[in-house]
Amino acid sequence: MTNGTTDGTTDGRITKARLGADGPEVGVQGLGCMGMSFAYGPSDAGESRATLERALELGVTLYDTADAYGAGENERFLSPFFKAHRDEVVIATKFALAIDPDDPTKRTIRNDEPYIRQCVEASLKRLDVDVIDLYYMHRRDLNVPIEETVGVMADLVREGKVKQLGLSEVTGAELRAAQSVHPIAALQSEWSLFSRDIEASVVPAARELGVALVAYSPLGRGFLTGSFAKAEDLTADDFRRQQPRFTGDNAAANAALLAPVRKVADSHGATLGQIALAWAQHQATVHALPVIPIPGTRRPSRVEENAAATTITLTEEDLALLAPIAEKVTGDRYADMRFTSAGRE
Ligand SMILES: NC(=O)c1ccc[n+]([C@@H]2O[C@H](COP(=O)([O-])OP(=O)(O)OC[C@H]3O[C@@H](n4cnc5c(N)ncnc54)[C@H](OP(=O)(O)O)[C@@H]3O)[C@@H](O)[C@H]2O)c1
Repeated sequence: MTNGTTDGTTDGRITKARLGADGPEVGVQGLGCMGMSFAYGPSDAGESRATLERALELGVTLYDTADAYGAGENERFLSPFFKAHRDEVVIATKFALAIDPDDPTKRTIRNDEPYIRQCVEASLKRLDVDVIDLYYMHRRDLNVPIEETVGVMADLVREGKVKQLGLSEVTGAELRAAQSVHPIAALQSEWSLFSRDIEASVVPAARELGVALVAYSPLGRGFLTGSFAKAEDLTADDFRRQQPRFTGDNAAANAALLAPVRKVADSHGATLGQIALAWAQHQATVHALPVIPIPGTRRPSRVEENAAATTITLTEEDLALLAPIAEKVTGDRYADMRFTSAGRE
């Protein structure tokens, strides 16, 4: 099995997967921490902290953040948890989304050396750690050759500031160019029952190069769980209100696509979200590479539910019911697709 020790556990902890050819083993499911500080409406800090602790008890060891999540706030929030469990957790953070200090709603993408150096120092300081375990380029700045950016990131490895390198939303060709400069441990992109564009060229490149695939928004930003059905169900400041697939007629059409997910869930006595996560996990077998979904949640009960999905095995019949969903989704996954791998392929 590509994902490593996937034959179930005896200690109630999830199984493991390897993060890149020479990387550490991490829990086969990570935790997306973005929503604890940013993008998805109000959070309860105490509940988020309890979620982090519960995740670790369940064997979740890869924790995903970024400097852009709340303009550094998410890294600062996570710092005490990381420090308390430094040897047990793998800290992943990202650079590239430069926030205009005069107008925090304005962002530009930067991949140049002075900017990267400023970001890594700021992240180390906010996280209050000596080294970042996995440092991602969050988005591609087309003004800077990717070889140059990865060259700077490789220097950070040599200088002991970061251990492993990752890229987010790059194309297969960009991944190949990057890997020619320095090994890339992980590629992070959106991958779910609703978003499968990376299967065309990104996933084959990752498999060929021995790069682990970290699947972000594996619950379709929550939509695949049925917890919201349209933009109007969300608070006014929720980022998902801007996403075309959750607005207007698209939302209703996409909600109807959950019928087969519900059917499979019922047959397993599982929730919709668990089926979405089991599908993402199963892609490791389909594509023969390590896949580590990083569902985001701020609730201990949900982290339990999500971790339990790692033990669900989908049948061929289930997979056949789920396979046609993605091509029927209406509305892009971002309002501006230029900054995604699909937008450049
Ligand atoms: N590289 C990138 O560009 C990029 C982009 C987006 C996200 N990410 C990373 O990927 C992580 C995960 O993605 P995501 O948070 O966008 O989307 P997601 O994991 O697909 O969905 C998260 C949403 O689902 C809800 N949820 C989680 N578990 C649930 C359950 N069992 N039942 C019902 N609802 C549930 C969460 O609400 P509660 O929190 O209230 O439970 C949240 O609203 C992020 O936290 C972030 O670290 C990276």
